Formats: sequence, structure tokens, C-alpha cells
Amino acid sequence: MTTHSNGAREKADKYTEFVSRGFGRDLAKRLGLPQPAILRRYNPGAPLIEGPVLVMGQGAGSDDVAKVLLDWHQDVRRHATPKEKLGAIVVVLDELGHPEQLSAPMLAVGAALRDLNKNARIVTISRPALPSDAPAIAAARNGVDGIVRSVAKELRAGATANGILLANGIAADSPSAMASLRFFLSGRSAFVDGQFLTASAVGEVAGDWDKPLNGCVAVVTGAARGIGAAIARTLARDGATVIAVDVPAAGDHLAAVANDIHGTALQLDITAPDAGERILDHAISRHGRLDIVVHNAGITRDKLLANMDAAKWDSVIAVNIASQLRMNEAFLASGDFGGNARIISVASTSGIAGNRGQSNYAASKAGVMGMVRSTAPLLEARGGTVNAVAPGFIETDMTAKIPFATREVARRLNSLQQGGRPGDVAEAIAFFAQPAAAGVTANVLRVCGQNLVGQ
Ligand code: NAI
Repeated sequence: MTTHSNGAREKADKYTEFVSRGFGRDLAKRLGLPQPAILRRYNPGAPLIEGPVLVMGQGAGSDDVAKVLLDWHQDVRRHATPKEKLGAIVVVLDELGHPEQLSAPMLAVGAALRDLNKNARIVTISRPALPSDAPAIAAARNGVDGIVRSVAKELRAGATANGILLANGIAADSPSAMASLRFFLSGRSAFVDGQFLTASAVGEVAGDWDKPLNGCVAVVTGAARGIGAAIARTLARDGATVIAVDVPAAGDHLAAVANDIHGTALQLDITAPDAGERILDHAISRHGRLDIVVHNAGITRDKLLANMDAAKWDSVIAVNIASQLRMNEAFLASGDFGGNARIISVASTSGIAGNRGQSNYAASKAGVMGMVRSTAPLLEARGGTVNAVAPGFIETDMTAKIPFATREVARRLNSLQQGGRPGDVAEAIAFFAQPAAAGVTANVLRVCGQNLVGQ
């Protein structure tokens, strides 16, 4: 368990701790109860992967990816050695022409699955199916989607499967694809499972993997507690100077977070009409620049639609989406937000799958995803990116209020059989913020342990 100076604790839930050792483990095994793994989280000093990486696939793409992994000082294998334990399998499938070509590489992956270490990683690198593709090519490419999502559901012991999609003309070893690969291989993606990242442009060669945000100034809204506080801490750990924003009523907690990470605090209700301008003023006057905006602040006012009132509906829309649209307009209109600009919004799986009693919240979060996709071209024109992270069940004050039985069911309903931590959402956001992710835009990445509900 980690305790932060503001008292926020990050720990495995009690059930996961109980079944992870001794009597609890034996009992769970005998009764056939879920046995969630203790997930490997990112630790800057620790190895990227625990064990050798098997790189499979035909063509130049797999050779190029193997070369990058060697440059990262990984123990690379091009063929499986029977009984050798593996830390990861990377399958390069960037030249698929027909679904029949999936058989050989996937059966080879299948044969190696029994030799995976705990918390191992499977990562595919392929191309998205496009309406302009020949039907056989589109069928093969889309097949990878089904494979990754199914394999993710078969893996155990904290292992995950995710995929990278290369847009037309983007090579398998392009910097943006390799930044995505590094994210998926590392403990940064502990709670990301069965998901895809799309590399739409070449991107930039990474500088410092440990302090990728050195020299950047980031603003995080809703940073006084929960996921926002974790995002502020994670961006600061990665080298950014952070402006922590929250409502005046949360001022004490906000100051504690900002002091802890040597950032600055800005007390501000983000629904204020001039919120964007005030953030820019603070950033430029105190820190001389603004590079990264994280729209995290959000509220829920749950009611079945039949019982919904205007106050509940309107406040959720105002905080969760209307404020972001208005602030983005101010940022885009400013000459001070450019170059490597990054906007990252926190959405929710409720906005993807829907949720009973959350029509207002789901409208706002689905709205966030729509906004992100159409803001991407506007920022791309000035070399920036915009992405969203959609958390599933995350252990925070918000979810601690859910009645016990509902909460216990909700946190087990994913492939990793546990709730995520605020830090898991923060790691995905920090990935999108990196200069090396310059070619990764308009993505919505779910951090949900592969929720069984929805996609
Ligand atoms: P939280 O309620 O613990 O923290 C939200 C923070 O936002 C609070 O500090 C609050 O004061 C601040 N805030 C609210 N309205 C504001 C305003 N008008 N101006 C400035 N700050 C404001 O919530 P939590 O759990 O940390 O959630 C953070 C984000 O993640 C939200 O957008 C939420 O919708 C989203 N999310 C959370 C999930 C979870 O399981 N906890 C799941 C999916 C999404």
C-alpha cells in the first residue's frame, strides 16, 4: 500500500489482498472464486518487462520492431524456446492480405501462451480495416480486433493483450507506434486490457523515457483529489511543472497536492465563462508557457431519466462537457498554446456502453469523445494532439460511495477482476502527453481492465 502526503491511499482491495496468499488463495481456488492478480505497476527504476520478449510475424516490420526492442536493451527472441518463460509477445501483422494468413502466427502465439510470466504482455501491431480496403484485406485486418479482445479474456495472472493500429503509410517501427508499444509493455498500462491505440502519424523520436515531460507545463482540472490528484502527481513525476486547478471549496486539498509536487494551485470553477483565459493567464504569468491541458474535473448527478430534473441534467453538462468546449476555444484562439500542444480529456466507459441512471453523465462523456475526435484536426494543424481516456471502475471517493454489494460486483466485472487505481488513469494520460506520442491523436483509450459490459 502507498500512502501519499494528502492521505490518498492506493492499495489492492481487501478481497484481492485476501486471495493473493496463503489460506485465502487456497480457499478461493477450492471454491472457484475470482482470483485477481496483484498488477505490476510502473516503477521508473524497474525493468520495462520481466522476462524475454518474443517478436513474431513475417516481413521487414517484425525485424524493425525487434531492432527497436534491442535498442531498449530487451532480451529479444525471434522463435519460442520450449518451456522458456516469456515477459511479452509482440506480433507484427502489418502486411495481412487475407484472414487465412492469421492462422500461422496466431497458432504460434497460442503455443507460447502457457509459458507467459505473471503480468506478461501480448501486443499486436497491425493496420485498421478501412472502407477503401479490398474486402479480404479488411476482413483480415478486422480479424485482429477480435483476436486481441478474445485473447485478453483468456489471459490470467495480470497478463494483458492490446493492439497498435498503424495508419496508412506508417511503418511498424515509427516513433509513435514504438511509444505506444512501450506503453503497452510497461507497468504504465497495468489496467488497460483488450484495447487499441492508433498511430496516425510518424511522431517524434523519444528523448528521455524516464522524464519525458521535462520542461513542459501542464494544467490539470479537478486536481484536489481522486483521479485528478493522481494525474497531477504522475505528470510531475515525469518531469512536468503542474498547475493544479479545483474549486475554491477544495482549496486546502488543492494546495497540499500543488505543494507536494512543487507546482502551483489555481482556485477556479471551470464553468466560469473566462476559465480558459484565466488558466492561460496563470500559466503564462507564472510559468511562461502552457503545453498540456488535462480536462479531468467531472461530476455525477445520477437519476433515472423518468425522475431527472433540470438542475441535475444541466450541472453535469455544464461541468463535464460545456466547460471543456469553452476552454478549448480559448486555448485554440491563443498564440501561447501551440507547438507540441496536448489536450487530454477524461471520459468514461458510461459514455461508451451507457449506464442505468446516468443518461446525463453518459451524454456528457460520450460528448467528450465526440469533441476529442473533431478537435483533433484543429490541433493537428499546429502540431498538437487531443485524446481521451475512458476509465471503467476506478477506486476513488466517488466509487467508494456505491453500496457495498453493487460495488463488489462492479469491480469484478472485467478481465482483471478488480477495480483500477487513479494512477492507472494517470499513466494513460501521461503517455498521451509525451512528445513521443506526437503521432497518436483522436484516440479514446479505455482504462477499464476490459469491462465485460460494452465493447
Ligand atoms: P472526484 O469527485 O473524486 O474528483 C473530482 C474533482 O473535480 C473534485 O476535486 C472536484 O472538486 C473537482 N470539480 C468538480 N467540479 C468542478 C468545477 N466546476 N471546477 C473545478 N473543479 C471541479 O472524482 P474522480 O473519481 O476523481 O473522477 C475524476 C474524473 O474521472 C471525472 O471526470 C469522472 O467523471 C471520471 N471518471 C471516474 C471514474 C471512477 O470510477 N472514479 C470512472 C470513469 C470516469
